[in-house]
This record gives sequence, structure tokens and C-alpha cells, in this order.
Amino acid sequence: MPNNPSGRQSIIAANWKMNKTLEEAGQFADNLLNRCPDPGTIEAVIAAPFTALSTLRSRLRATPFRLAAQDLFWEPAGAYTGEISAAMLVDVGCSHVIIGHSERRQGFGETDAMADKKVSAALQAGLHPIVCIGETLDERQAGQTFDVLKRQIQNSLASCSADVMPRIVLGYEPLWAIGTGVSATPQQAQEAHSYLRELLAQRWGTEAAEAVRVQYGGSVNPDSIAALMAEEDIDGALVGGASLDVDSFIQLLTYS
Ligand code: PGA
Repeated sequence: MPNNPSGRQSIIAANWKMNKTLEEAGQFADNLLNRCPDPGTIEAVIAAPFTALSTLRSRLRATPFRLAAQDLFWEPAGAYTGEISAAMLVDVGCSHVIIGHSERRQGFGETDAMADKKVSAALQAGLHPIVCIGETLDERQAGQTFDVLKRQIQNSLASCSADVMPRIVLGYEPLWAIGTGVSATPQQAQEAHSYLRELLAQRWGTEAAEAVRVQYGGSVNPDSIAALMAEEDIDGALVGGASLDVDSFIQLLTYS
């Protein structure tokens, strides 16, 4: 259901990161469904820790809310202690999965090549990958933002063909804006997003590029979301801190 002039459906995703016990997750879902049973034209996604997915599935299964994991492993099954496959995520009710978040890249050595394998595994299992990219402050200050984004797009989506592109969601998340309280301005974000769409068009063609939804992430809050979403190439938000509180999450979903 399109709700911006481009025809792309907006997508707002909560990234809970390593937060919430089972009880807290359950309470969040109950409060959300009580106060905001339907996010309308927005695709609303909750990316919860693996441990909370099952309990969230039982509450959200017959609702418009979608469930995401924050990572996956690319192999289908086997001796990979600690890992979770794409099929397991589908089994527990996920429709989306975050891939290549900067916290995984910085803290756990994830590379573009690993992201590419994860994207392929997710697509094969029928999941929508939310692929995160973004530059550091040093890279921005050195004028390298576009080069970094180009490298990340080319390598993280290396195995994708044009026909799968409509299922991809990109999360543009400049590292200097994540968890800092300093959001990119709508103009800075739009500039990056429109460059990303240009890159997508060069590699996969205009039609595929127009179908990809690009979320902005980095200190989005209920006060900043409307101005961001008003930009032509910003199709959604990936929200960490401000998504943990149910009132704040509802304000984000009902920003317009
Ligand atoms: P933040 O996190 O909203 O807390 O800045 C965003 C993210 O890391 O996805």
C-alpha cells in the first residue's frame, strides 16, 4: 500500500538491540496492540532479540505488525554453535531480518562479504533483508561518504539480481548518528539516499532502484521523524533508542 509520492510503502522498524526480557517484550506488544492496533499504511516492524521472537510471534501473529531478527547465519543447518539460520527465523515468525548493522560490523568483525552471504540466505528463505550501511564520522569529514556507500552497496549486495531488489530494504545509518542524539539532517540523509538510489539504478536498472525502500537510521525520535519522512528518497526509519518505549514507538508510527 503506497503512501508516499514514489509509490513505495513506508517502513518503520524498531531495532531493540540487546534489550528486553520476555516479560518486557510481552508487555510492550500488549500495550502496542491496545493503543495502536493498526499502523495504517505504514509497514511496522519490530526487530527483537532472538529470545523474544517466539513470545512476540504469539501476540503479533494475527496483527499487521511484522517481526524481524537482528542477524542470521548464512548456512542452512549444521555444526555452527550459537548461530541461527534463515529457516529458523521464518519458523519463529520473522518476515524481515537486519543484516550488517554497524554494531555487528564494528564489534563482531562483520564484513560486506559476510553481509552478502546473509542477504542471499535471507532471500532464499523468503525473508526481507534490511541491509545496513553508513559512513563513520572520520570518513564523512574526509569527504569519503559516497565512496564508502558505493563500496558497501556493491559488496554487500554482490550476489543480488535485479528481480530480488524489490524485496531489499536498505538502512542508511551514518555511524556518527547512531545512539548519539545527533541525527543527520533531513537534507544530509536525502543526499545520501538519492546517491544510493543512483547507485542502485546504475547496477540494477531504474525500475529495481525505484522499488528499493531506503530507511534512515541514527537518533530518529518522535520530533525528528516527520521532517525526515518528508524527503523524497527517505522511505522509512530504523529506530533504536526511541523504539524501546511503547509510547515513543507509537508516536513514530503515527508521525503524520
Ligand atoms: P538509534 O539506533 O536510533 O538509537 O540511534 C539506530 C540503529 O542503530 O538502528
